[in-house]
Amino acid sequence: MKKIAVLTSGGDAPGMNAAIRAVVRTGCENGVKVLGIRRGYAGLMEGDMYEMNIRSVSDIIHRGGTILHSARSRKFCTEEGMQEAIKICKDNGIEGIVVIGGDGSFKGARDLSVRGINCVGVPGTIDNDIACCDYTIGYDTCLNTIMDMVDKIRDTSESHDRCTVVEVMGRRAGFLALNAGIAVGATAILIPELEFDIERDILERMRRTQKTGKRHFIIVVAEGVNDKLVAQGINGVSSLAKYIEHNLGVESRATVLGHVQRGGSPSVKDRVVGSQMGSYAAHLLLDGIGNRVVAMQKEKIVDFEIVEALNMHKSIDLALYDTAMEISI
Ligand code: F6P
Repeated sequence: MKKIAVLTSGGDAPGMNAAIRAVVRTGCENGVKVLGIRRGYAGLMEGDMYEMNIRSVSDIIHRGGTILHSARSRKFCTEEGMQEAIKICKDNGIEGIVVIGGDGSFKGARDLSVRGINCVGVPGTIDNDIACCDYTIGYDTCLNTIMDMVDKIRDTSESHDRCTVVEVMGRRAGFLALNAGIAVGATAILIPELEFDIERDILERMRRTQKTGKRHFIIVVAEGVNDKLVAQGINGVSSLAKYIEHNLGVESRATVLGHVQRGGSPSVKDRVVGSQMGSYAAHLLLDGIGNRVVAMQKEKIVDFEIVEALNMHKSIDLALYDTAMEISI
C-alpha cells in the first residue's frame, strides 16, 4: 500500500476533522501518501484532491464541519459516475479510501470496493442512525447543542407561561429527539419509531401536568414524524403549536432548530471517537483490508463488512422513552 485517500460525504458532523486528522497522521506515520479529496464523491469524480501531510491537519481537531468539505452526489450513483471515480483512483495511484459519512456514503464505498478500490467507511453523522454502530461521530456534540438551545428557549417559555414545540433533526430516526427530549425535560417527545396520538400523548399529558401547577411546556418533535403529523391533520410544528394553543388555551410557539444543530466545536467524545475510528480505518487499509465499516459497539471499536452493516437494524431505547414519560411530568 503506497497511497490512500480520505473524503467526507453527506451531511457534515462535528468530529469529522478529528477523523480526517487521524487518517492522515496514521497514514503518514506508516509511510504511505495520503490524499485529501474535496467535496466527497463529487470531488473524487473531478479529481479534486491534494496531498496531505502531518501538518495539513494541524489545528483542526477543535473545529466543527469538515476541512475537506462535503457533498451529496447523484452522478456518483450512476455507472458512468462510478467509472469516472475508478479512473481517477487508477490515474492517481489511490489504492484505498476512507469514507467518512452516513449510510448513503457507505453504499458508494461498497460499490467502489467491489470494483477493486478498497474502501473503509467511518460513521460520521449527527443522526446516530447507522445500524451497526452504537455511536456515530457528531451525535454527542449535536445533542449538547440542542440542549443548550432548548435551555435558552425554556427561559423565555417559562417567563411567558408558554408551550414551545421544538423540531430537531435526525432524518428518519428519533435518537436525537429522544435523548435531547429527556435532557431538557420535555413534557412530550414525538419520534418516528413510535406511534403517537396527539390527544393522548400531548394534550392529555399537558392537562395532567397543568393540574399539578405546571405552566410552561417543552414538546420535542423529531423531523422524521412529519408524515405521521400530516396523517393526523397537522402540517408541521407551527401547525402543532397552533393546535395546542387552540385546544388548551396555552399560548404556543414553534421553533425549528435547523442547521445550527450540525455546527460547533466537537465535544470531547466526538474528538476521541473521531480519532479512534479514523486511525482504525487507516490501519485496515494499510493491512490491505477494504469493504468494511468501522463501528463502535459497547465502547469498543470494531468493523463489519459493508453489506452486512447496511442490512443491520438498530432500535430505539424504549426503556429510555418510558423513563422520560414517567418523570417528565
Ligand atoms: O443527516 C444529517 C442531517 O442533518 C439530517 O438530520 C437532516 O435531515 C439532513 O441532514 C439535512 O440535510 P441538508 O443539510 O441537505 O439540508
